[in-house]
Amino acid sequence: MNAQNGKQIWLEAWLEGKPLDTSLCKVNHPPYRFVFLGAPGVGKGTVAQLMAERLGVAHLATGDIFRAAKSLPQDKLSPALREAIGYMQRGELVPDETVISLVRERTACLHWPAGFVLDGFPRTVPQAEAFQGILVKEGLKLDAVLNFELPIDFIIARLSGRRTCPKCKAVYHIVNNPPKQPGVCDVCGTELIIREDDRPEAIRVRMEVYKKSTAPLIDYYESKGLLKTVVAKGTPVEVYARTLNVAGIV
Ligand code: AP5
Repeated sequence: MNAQNGKQIWLEAWLEGKPLDTSLCKVNHPPYRFVFLGAPGVGKGTVAQLMAERLGVAHLATGDIFRAAKSLPQDKLSPALREAIGYMQRGELVPDETVISLVRERTACLHWPAGFVLDGFPRTVPQAEAFQGILVKEGLKLDAVLNFELPIDFIIARLSGRRTCPKCKAVYHIVNNPPKQPGVCDVCGTELIIREDDRPEAIRVRMEVYKKSTAPLIDYYESKGLLKTVVAKGTPVEVYARTLNVAGIV
């Protein structure tokens, strides 16, 4: 199995809560287990995507669960998920209880043999505390929490050119990381879209929410001795290489 096939397996389990057959994952490295922190648009998802492609890790993004739910018919959505979509579209955080129960339902993904990158979770201190309980219960330990840092003007430029694939979740940028054919996903050929929460008014809300609710996690994880900082300037491949270095993988 190549990493792309592996992606299909964990992605379905993560997005749809399907059972996960971990015996299908064959890797020659120990599992890597990271949480990615950082402001919206800093490039967390892009580095996680490269780690998934090149190291076979599962890229577990809570935002992807809500975006996938949005494309389902209304009658297939639980009331909690329907409500969650509204929060996401406005750029606000989904309530902690909803996010925590979605992650609990998907704990099998944390056992993917190549490891995981959690991107967008935990995002508040109560989520971090609940996640710590999940890790203890599952007998798992994080290698590190990587905090990506980038000046705000770079972040705005990254968000305003972002395009995403609604099917396989690949992320592009119209200038910095364009697809081979404009508007079409390199991986699965689906038409790329602009995320609804990349509208300027939703970006403003997301930045405020980040400062108020997510930035405190930097101190939280520092006090646990898990925090490491990644300077997110440079090309995606440069930031990826720096991330591996900070994470102690190479
Ligand atoms: P989520 O999907 O997690 O979004 P986010 O945190 O706002 O992060 P982004 O995906 O916007 O940014 P990113 O850092 O991954 O950047 P990317 O790699 O795409 O959350 C969305 C919403 O879901 C939340 O607002 C909330 O409502 C809800 N939600 C999710 N989790 C939740 C939780 N735990 N609790 C409560 N609510 C939750 O890069 C951005 C752009 O820059 C791309 O175009 C990319 O190609 C480009 N780029 C990346 N790296 C580089 C580089 N090095 N050089 C140049 N361009 C680059």
